[in-house]
Amino acid sequence: MCGIVAATARREVSEILLEGLRRLEYRGYDSAGMALIDNEHHLQMHKQQGKVAVLEQSQSMQPILGCVGIAHTRWATHGEPSAANAHPHISSQRVALVHNGIIENHVQLRKELKAEGFEFTSATDTEVVVHLLGQQLNAGHSLLHAMQATVKRLEGAYALAAIDIKHPEEVVAAREGSPLVVGVGIGENFLASDQMALRQVTDRFIYLEEGDVVQATPTHLSIFARNGEPVTRAQTMISAAVEVADRGEFEHFMLKEIYEQPSALSATLGAVADGPLIDEQFGAEAAALFDQVETVQIVACGTSFHAGLVARYWLEDIAGIPCDVEVASEFRYRKRKQHANTLLVTVSQSGETADTLAALRNATEPQFLGSLVISNVDNSSLVRESDLVFLTRAGAEIGVASTKAFTTQLVAFLLLTVALGRRHGLDEKIEQQLLDELRELPRWVDQVLQLDRDIQRMSEAFIQKHHALFLGRGVHYPIAMEGALKLKEISYIHAEAYPAGELKHGPLALVDADMPVVAVAPNDDLLEKLKSNLEEVRSRGGELYVFADNVDGFQDEQQVHVLPMPHCPERLKPVLYTVALQLLSYHVALQKGTDVDKPRNLAKSVTVE
Ligand code: M6R
Repeated sequence: MCGIVAATARREVSEILLEGLRRLEYRGYDSAGMALIDNEHHLQMHKQQGKVAVLEQSQSMQPILGCVGIAHTRWATHGEPSAANAHPHISSQRVALVHNGIIENHVQLRKELKAEGFEFTSATDTEVVVHLLGQQLNAGHSLLHAMQATVKRLEGAYALAAIDIKHPEEVVAAREGSPLVVGVGIGENFLASDQMALRQVTDRFIYLEEGDVVQATPTHLSIFARNGEPVTRAQTMISAAVEVADRGEFEHFMLKEIYEQPSALSATLGAVADGPLIDEQFGAEAAALFDQVETVQIVACGTSFHAGLVARYWLEDIAGIPCDVEVASEFRYRKRKQHANTLLVTVSQSGETADTLAALRNATEPQFLGSLVISNVDNSSLVRESDLVFLTRAGAEIGVASTKAFTTQLVAFLLLTVALGRRHGLDEKIEQQLLDELRELPRWVDQVLQLDRDIQRMSEAFIQKHHALFLGRGVHYPIAMEGALKLKEISYIHAEAYPAGELKHGPLALVDADMPVVAVAPNDDLLEKLKSNLEEVRSRGGELYVFADNVDGFQDEQQVHVLPMPHCPERLKPVLYTVALQLLSYHVALQKGTDVDKPRNLAKSVTVE
C-alpha cells in the first residue's frame, strides 16, 4: 500500500508531485521519494526515510526541477523503512520506477538479474522490476515495449510508473491488482494511486483496468490492454467540489472525524432522513436481488469487519435472516460450504482493501446470488466490481483510525436490515419505529460528543498502562472489539476484547490493578449478566471503567469508574458507545504523545495482501 504520483507536462511538476504525495500519505508514510527528468535530460532524485515532510525539506534545501517525474510514499513490505529502500529505484543510470504492491517472484528474478550483472542497492522486491526495465531498454526497446515485456515477467500485485532519460517526455505505467488512475489535463497528463492526489490539477479521470499499460506524454495518452492491443477506457468527470483535507480547528484529523459523525450519519441516511427507505438506495437491481436473499455472508477487514459483526446481530434478530461474518483474509482461502441464495456483503471504507477485493472476486455465482458493497469511496475497485452499492456519505476519512466510516457503516447495515427484513416478515410498525429512531441518531451522537471532557478525565488512568481489557456482551461485544482496536492502534497499549462471559475461562488470570478493564455496559437484556462478570473483576482487584446508561446500576466507588451515557433507544446504542470509546482512545493517545493520525507501522488503505 504505497502511494504513487506521476506527471508529464510542459510546466515544472515537482510541487504537483509533492502535493500529490501529501494527499496520498494515508497509504503509507515510512519513507518518500521523487525523481524528475531535468531540462538537460538528467535524472534528479530525492529519497528520504520518514514522512513526506522530510522529503519536502530536502526539496526546499536542494530543489530538483523537471517537467516529467514520478513520486512515491511508502509502506514497507520488503526491506525496512530507509532511504535506500525508498522509491524511486533506478537501473542502468537511466530509468526510474515507483511501485505499489508486492512482486511475489522477486527472489527468482533477483537471482537471474544478478547473474546478468545488475547490481542491487536495496532490499525491496521492487528493484527487480526496474532492472527488468533496464534490461529491455539496454536491448534497444522503447519504454512502452520495455514495460509491456516487464509486466509479463511479474507475479503478484502492482501499480507501476516509470520514466527514462532517453524518453524525456514520457511516463509509462501499468496496473495489476493495485489501484491506478489517469488524470487527464490540458496539455499535461498525470497518474496516481487515488484520484484524490490529482484533484488539484484535473477533474477528468480514467480508471485503468487490470492488465492495462499506459503511455503518457503531455499531449498523448495511449492505453493498452493485457494482450497488447490499444484500448479506449471511459473518462469520468468528477464534480468540481474538491474535498479539502483540512483539519480546521481540530488538532488531529481523527478528532475532527469523530466530531463530524452527526453530519456524516445524516448524510448517510440520505433520503431516509425525511422519507421511506427504498430499495434503490442500494442500486437499481436491488429489489430483484433482495427478493431472493435467504442468507447473508459479510466479509471485511479490521474496523469494517467489526461493523459486520454488529450487523449479524441485527440481521438475525430484527430481519430474521441467518448471517455469517468473516475476515476477508481467511474467507478468501477457505474451502466453504455455502448456503443457497446467499447475498455477499463486502464492507470497506476505502473500497480498495486487497483481501476484501479478492474475496469478492473469488465469490462468484452460483455460490452467491450477487454482491453488495458498503463503501465510503465512489468509483473504488469494490464499488466498480459489485452488483449493488451502498455509499456511506462520511466524506474523506484521513485519520488512519477509522471512526466516522464505522458508524456510517452501522447505519448502512441498519437500513439493509430493514430492506431485507421487510421480505422476511418484519413488522411495519417496527420498521417505522427503527427508521424514526435512526433519524434521531445524529442528535444522540451529539450528546455523546458533549461527554468529551469527562472521557478525557477518565483517559488519564490509562496513560501509564501497558495493557487493557475491553468487555461487552451481545451486540456490544463487537463494540468492545472496536474499542480495543482503536486503543491499540493509536496509543500502542495492548488491548484485547472479550465477551464478558468468557472472562472466567482464562483472561481473568490477567486481571490486577495494572490491567484496566473497560466495560461496555448499556442497559439491555444482558446487563445483569454483565454485572456479575464485572464483579468477578472487582473481587480480583481489577479497576473497572464502565460506560453505562443505567447509572443506577453502577456507582462510582473504589475500583469502579462510571461514565454515564445518554439513555437512547436500544438499537442505537452500539453507535453511541462506539463514539465514547473513540474519544477514550483519542485522549489516551494524545496524552501519550503518539502520532494519532498516522500511527506507526500502519497505513489507511491496505492494498497489499
Ligand atoms: O478500507 P477498509 O475499511 O477496507 O479498511 C479495513 C481496515 O484496514 C481498517 O478498518 C483498519 O482496521 C482501520 N485502520 C482501523 O481503525
